[in-house]
Amino acid sequence: MAGDILDIVTSPVTVVTTKSGDKINGMTVAWIMQAAHNPASIVVSIAPERYTHTLIKESGVFGVNILAEDQKALGKKFGFASGRDADKFRAVKYHKSKSGLPVLDDIYAYIECRLVSVANAGDHDLFIGEVIEKTWDNKKAPLVFKSSDFF
Ligand SMILES: Cc1cc2nc3c(=O)[nH]c(=O)nc-3n(C[C@H](O)[C@H](O)[C@H](O)COP(=O)(O)O)c2cc1C
Repeated sequence: MAGDILDIVTSPVTVVTTKSGDKINGMTVAWIMQAAHNPASIVVSIAPERYTHTLIKESGVFGVNILAEDQKALGKKFGFASGRDADKFRAVKYHKSKSGLPVLDDIYAYIECRLVSVANAGDHDLFIGEVIEKTWDNKKAPLVFKSSDFF
């Protein structure tokens, strides 16, 4: 059976948050993976037209909120509107990390990274970040991306 690569490669659904000046934002990102063990590093793939792309380049920091399996609604909220024209945090429960980034409540895990480098991959850019902070609720299960859940 032929299939789209989107359905073949398994990934978690995350909301990548950042903060530049007073502006906070977050966007849904399914294309994320561990990039290195030492130093612990994560890569997230973000298209240049996303507002989050601009803000991470300005701030040099991003947080990966790996959603829990019952948080599909948050994936939709942060994945179908831009922070350029909507406040996606309205009516969303979150707190702040040590460096002031939004951390969504009740998620599976949070991994905060300092941006180390950016590489191009066609219509997306790969943001490679070194892990500076992490929290994990090992009693929860992560939300796994399935395109039919969202598109
Ligand atoms: C389930 C899901 C997964 C997504 N994964 C990605 C991704 O990996 N990379 C990306 O650039 N956009 C991805 N998007 C699209 C962005 O989340 C979307 O364009 C968002 O509105 C950008 O917000 P911003 O302009 O506030 O940064 C995804 C959307 C959904 C619904």
